Amino acid sequence: MIEIEALTKDYLELTVVDRVSLTVADGEIAVIVGTSGSGKTTLLRMINRLIEPTSGTVKIDGQDTRAVPAFELRRRIGYAIQGHGLFPHRTVGQNIATVPTLLGWDKAKIAARVDELLELFQLPAAEFRDRMPSELSGGQQQRVGVARALAAEPKLLLMDEPFGALDPIIRAKAQSDLLAIQKRFGTTIVLVTHDMEEAIHLGSRIAVMDRGKLLQYAPPDEIIARPATPFVAELIGTGERPFRLLSLGKVRDLVEPGPAQGEPISADASLRDAYAECLWTGREMLPVVDADGASIGRIRRDDIAHKAERPQ
Ligand SMILES: Nc1ncnc2c1ncn2[C@@H]1O[C@H](COP(=O)(O)OP(=O)(O)OP(=O)(O)O)[C@@H](O)[C@H]1O
Ligand SMILES: [Mg+2]
Repeated sequence: MIEIEALTKDYLELTVVDRVSLTVADGEIAVIVGTSGSGKTTLLRMINRLIEPTSGTVKIDGQDTRAVPAFELRRRIGYAIQGHGLFPHRTVGQNIATVPTLLGWDKAKIAARVDELLELFQLPAAEFRDRMPSELSGGQQQRVGVARALAAEPKLLLMDEPFGALDPIIRAKAQSDLLAIQKRFGTTIVLVTHDMEEAIHLGSRIAVMDRGKLLQYAPPDEIIARPATPFVAELIGTGERPFRLLSLGKVRDLVEPGPAQGEPISADASLRDAYAECLWTGREMLPVVDADGASIGRIRRDDIAHKAERPQ
């Protein structure tokens, strides 16, 4: 069990995580969502002390994490990030073996564990064990990254947008793999994502962050039925259905003439991506470009929201 109590991180005057308290029970998946810069990564990294909190406490199974040397803590806690962070000059097998080797497991036990994990992630060991990461597809590298994080059988796994770089089909596969493995090992997981459907699909509980504060922490159905603030309601939509509908529509369907500020979005992007982009960056409208990068107008967040409510 993880007990986070009034956890705070200040950088000079700036409070980026502000007295966040939450508890994750054994075997649960807690998913952290929120706008860009809301403090999700900082919160996650304070759990394994990659970032030292300014104040507040984190207890794991009743033990204050400050009572354990940071390096020891990090060996006990799995950590997986977007872009997987594999060591490029080590084989797949050596990558997965990293933490067990640090922990001094014997060779036979490490080899068995590496093969077990490869098979579990549907990467036949004989074929993949001795390859270099560069000889794998992005989705395969991602799976190796998660396998590496799980190698030493951590009871706790921290994941920061682990599937962010994957295309939707591979991502769905990666999610179901993760759920299967989580069931099998009973791993407790804290996962950060930008994808609300992913949060609803994977989360036992969802933590919604905005500007360093935890707005709501509740099971997905409760967040959908009773969002604590208008911001949470907007972030969630009214459940999966509007997001599904928006996945089907294209930005080009709702383009209007006129200018807009900031990073443009492609006319061929889905309305769901455009809506998410508006929410995460706090913009009311986005400039729209065609396949050649030429400006063709803008799209409004309100128009997308209306489309989600009234699909015709
Ligand atoms: N070392 C640092 N010094 C000063 N400010 C920092 C530092 N690291 C992060 N911040 C600020 O803290 C805030 C929270 O950052 P954090 O990385 O936790 O956000 P996030 O929610 O993970 O965002 P994203 O979704 O973009 O990954 C941001 O405003 C960021 O600029
Ligand atoms: Mg982040």
